[in-house]
Amino acid sequence: DLGTYPFHMLKEIDEQPVVMRRLLAAYTDENGTVNLSAELTQALAAADRLYFVAAGTSYHASLVGAALMEEYAHMPASAYLASEFGYHQPLLAGKPMFVFLTQSGETADIRQVLVKVKAQGFPTLTITNVPTSTLAREADYALNLHAGPEIAVASTKAYTAQVATTALVAKALGVAKHVQAAADWNLAHELGLIAATQQTLVDAKDTVHELAKSALATTRNAFYIGRGLDYYVALEAALKLKEISYVQAEGFAAGELKHGTIALIENGTPVIALISDPVTAAHTRANATEAAARGAHVLRIATRSLAEPGDDLVIDDLNPSLAPLALIVPCQLLAYYASLDRGYDVDRPRNLAKSVTVE
Ligand code: M6R
Repeated sequence: DLGTYPFHMLKEIDEQPVVMRRLLAAYTDENGTVNLSAELTQALAAADRLYFVAAGTSYHASLVGAALMEEYAHMPASAYLASEFGYHQPLLAGKPMFVFLTQSGETADIRQVLVKVKAQGFPTLTITNVPTSTLAREADYALNLHAGPEIAVASTKAYTAQVATTALVAKALGVAKHVQAAADWNLAHELGLIAATQQTLVDAKDTVHELAKSALATTRNAFYIGRGLDYYVALEAALKLKEISYVQAEGFAAGELKHGTIALIENGTPVIALISDPVTAAHTRANATEAAARGAHVLRIATRSLAEPGDDLVIDDLNPSLAPLALIVPCQLLAYYASLDRGYDVDRPRNLAKSVTVE
């Protein structure tokens, strides 16, 4: 039911704070302890490397999820594209465990990996929005994303649910492994703050719409830049823009700009700089300035303590490790308005299906 919304995508963007709170209710108790089954926690702890395997937006969430596993659970982890992994399996660790992030639970590229690694006897976990899906049923363990039905082809609330759920798993695993960083991490509190921050961002629609009008109205291409987790958000932001507005968009590591891509910058080329990491903020800013010097139309989105006068959007401060949960929201809205203003069917972009059940 769309209610007063013109498109499901906008409704689903708006639902993200509610999804954060739903995940907290589902996975944490009043002390902030994360409740995973003992069997799942033990299986994860018994692994010596986690392999996230996913596609599209879920792959972008996996990149963040793998980073969270390393930081808070001291568990080596990496993310792979399912369509590549299935045919070019890397040399595996001694005790691998596979984590499949998938909104639909029906993605064929992922299923073929699941079938192959199960045949090799490795443990598997599916994290999905559809608990009755094929991938949920066929994996050893399954976790629910609790995002509620996602109708728009462009994934929004499933992405933030995936990042938040992998954070919850990282916390539980880290605590089980007696990692100090996990014990000290008040994740439940931080996710509550993030829900509030997401709310301020969805309430800033008019501001983001103006930014979309100024930078993206007629452009044929666009670039998103960031470093670390901001880079992973840049990848997802670019996918959002291209799939619903048909603008050729690229997300890339800001430091790579000068290694080739800067040649594409012309007068007015949109470059959206994402700045939420104190360690790299100055470098990303310098890269944005280099682009501006070549004529780029630069938009800067920064967290408050890293913000500078003239930035286009300022986001409440938050744990940089969870920044994607907030940073992606204005990027989703930029893509939404770019598509809307071009008169496209935002929910049903050309050539795309909601769930991709062929390889
Ligand atoms: O259902 P899944 O999460 O496995 O789907 C993976 C991709 O097909 C999906 O994320 C796709 O990239 C979305 N259209 C992105 O918005």
